[in-house]
Formats: sequence, C-alpha cells, structure tokens
Amino acid sequence: MAKILAIGNAVLDTIFSVEQHPKEDQEMRALSKTHQIGGNVNNTLYVLNQLGHATSICTTAATDSESKQLISGMQDHGIDCTHIQKFIQGSTPNSIVTLNAHNGSRTIVHYRDLPEVSFEFFAKIEIENFDWLHFEGRNIENLQGMLNISKTFLDKQPISLEVEKPRENIEALLPLANLVIFSHHYAIAKQFTDAVQLLEAMSQLAPNSNLVCTWGAKGVWLKAINNSIEHIPAIPVNPVIDTLGAGDTFNAGLIHQLLNGNSLSEACKFANQLAAQKIQKRGLDDILNVKAENRAIANIKKLSKAKATVIDVGSTGSIILILHENTVRAYENNCPHQNVPLNEAYKIDVNPFENTLKCSVHDAFFNIADGECIDGPCWGEHLTPIAIRTDEQGDIYLA
Ligand code: FRU
Repeated sequence: MAKILAIGNAVLDTIFSVEQHPKEDQEMRALSKTHQIGGNVNNTLYVLNQLGHATSICTTAATDSESKQLISGMQDHGIDCTHIQKFIQGSTPNSIVTLNAHNGSRTIVHYRDLPEVSFEFFAKIEIENFDWLHFEGRNIENLQGMLNISKTFLDKQPISLEVEKPRENIEALLPLANLVIFSHHYAIAKQFTDAVQLLEAMSQLAPNSNLVCTWGAKGVWLKAINNSIEHIPAIPVNPVIDTLGAGDTFNAGLIHQLLNGNSLSEACKFANQLAAQKIQKRGLDDILNVKAENRAIANIKKLSKAKATVIDVGSTGSIILILHENTVRAYENNCPHQNVPLNEAYKIDVNPFENTLKCSVHDAFFNIADGECIDGPCWGEHLTPIAIRTDEQGDIYLA
C-alpha cells in the first residue's frame, strides 16, 4: 500500500442517461438521472483506493450545501480530505453529463467559479510523507511552483502530471514531472494527427520524463525515457456502457502498477485493461469486480494440448485453459488441496500422453478431461470447472 496525494479538481456530477445526445434547441427526456462525485483526480483516487492505496486529495471547496455533499462523498470513497482549501467566494464545481445509453459516450458541460488551490496552501503540506504525487494539469500559474518544490524536496517519490486540455504554458510543466499522461483531446487541439507525432514532439520538451498518450478506442502509446515509442491496442469492449472517468481509471491503473515496480509498458497494459473493465459498467464503484463477460479472455488458436494457459481475469482470480480433444477445458486456477494457484511454486506441468496436469505445489495430478485429482494429496477431489463459450473466430468468453 502506498500513500498518494493528488492535486486537482473535485466536482459534483449529474448524469443523465439519454437515447442520444441532444442537438441545439432540442428538448428531450432523460432515461435516468444519477449524482456522482467526480473530477479527474478525485476519480483517480477513488480507483487507487480500491487498488489498496491510502489516498489524499488537495483541492478547493466552497462553503455551499453541495460542498458538504461533495466532501462527505469523497470521505465515503475513502479519500482523506485534510488538504482542502475552503473559499467563501464561488460555488461547488458542477458537471452536467449526458451519457448515451447505446454506446456509453459522454458529453460534459462543466461549470466552475471556485478559485484553484493556492501555492501557499500546497506549500504547507508535508509532501515528503507521500509515496507519489499526481497533479491535474490545470491551475498552471500555481502548478509551476508546486511542481518545482515537489521536485526539489522529493528525491525518491515520483510525480505524475495529467495533460488533458491545452492550457497556456502547460508545456513548461512537462520536464518537472517523471510521468506525463496526455489525452488525445490535447493532441488534437495542438494539431497533432496522431499520438506518435505528439510523443515525438513532447519528448523534445521533456526528454527525462516518461510519456503516455491515451487515444480512446485506438489504444495507448508510450515512450519511456530513452526508449522508442510503443503502442498498446485498446481491448475491444462490446457493449460500451459508460466512458465517464475511463481516462481517470487508466491513470489510477498506471500509477498503481508503477508503484509496484513494473515497467511503463507493463503498467500501460494493466491500465488499459482496467479502463476496459470500467467502460463495461456504470460509475466507478467496485471497479475491480466487473465480470469480464464481454471481453474475449483468449483465442483457441493460442491454446495447446501440451501446455496449460493461465489467464488473469481480475479480482475473480485466474483460469486455466487447455485443449482436450480439440475442445477447450477451463478450470479455476485453484488446487483443492490447499486452495492455492496450481502455478504457485512453478509452472503447471502437462503430460499430453496421460492427459493430466500437475499442481506445482504438492504434485497433485488432475485429469485434463474432467479436472479430477487422480494422484496426490487431494485424490478424488476436482478442479472447479468454469463456464466458457467460444465464438466462430475462436475467441473464448466467460459464459
Ligand atoms: C471525468 C470528469 C468528471 C467531471 C469532469 C471534469 O473525467 O472528471 O467526473 O465532471 O471530468 O472535467
């Protein structure tokens, strides 16, 4: 578990689910209305919390009644609200979001008249008590100083910066962050035709920063310091339910994996997966428990009779896939002997002549055909079968 401080916006979102986004001068009825707490870093922290981290927000709040709702919502999400600068002038930032019920696309109308966090307020926070600092690329005037003192006082803790929209002089901040995450909205607004062009240009400005650019359904591009640009395709999701906060979820996944010591490329893959999981459900609650039913977990062409393939399906755990007489067998990756994954100690050995697979922990042998333990410490017990379906392309789904 790490301690993460994020500096940015907290917003009250009102979400109308609609048949389609309204056109100018149109009047329409929404299918449903929900209130959520939002704002980029607020969303990111909520997901980081679910990933097991201790999170704090540094933001501003008004003194109106909505502000109480917003702060108690953040606290309910497990976010520490000690570092909130209160203002008498201004009101709680609000977004009105229309969410297309058919394809999950979101349109946001945002209103704010609340001042941003001042440099003096930020400077009083004991930032050295945190393991990671994440900044939303807004409030540019004050962010320069905040990033400067962070870089000066923190020699081990990474600093990330989200660049979602073009803002005057935001580019001057890039070299001050270890990780910069650009959105395709920023890239397009800056007249870059693709992520590669953007990352090439930005790496000139910030050669010592890791750079990432998310591009919706096209996937993610990344450039680790001194490395070449890499592309990770988006994971196809059908149907898409809700894209609101998908980018914020991606950022959380990225920070989480980097904190765990993974490479930028590995971290982007995980974040991509988490964002794909998010868009399959409404909101950000229980984000790790989205059933992967709409996503192919493997393709039959990649499976073999002689090798057990272990697929991670998020919080549900992992699954063993193996071919048996040209059909796929799927079992929970859990040995009934001691309830540990079969590959806990080593890989899962397969004997294609005996049609068995072996748990690496205490050498229990299981029939590939029906998962029965035919030799070893849990003799007579079974691996738990998992219901799957395979489509014409050979893509395998949880049933
Ligand atoms: C989603 C979001 C919403 C918020 C808006 C602010 O990324 O953070 O929760 O209303 O963007 O621009």
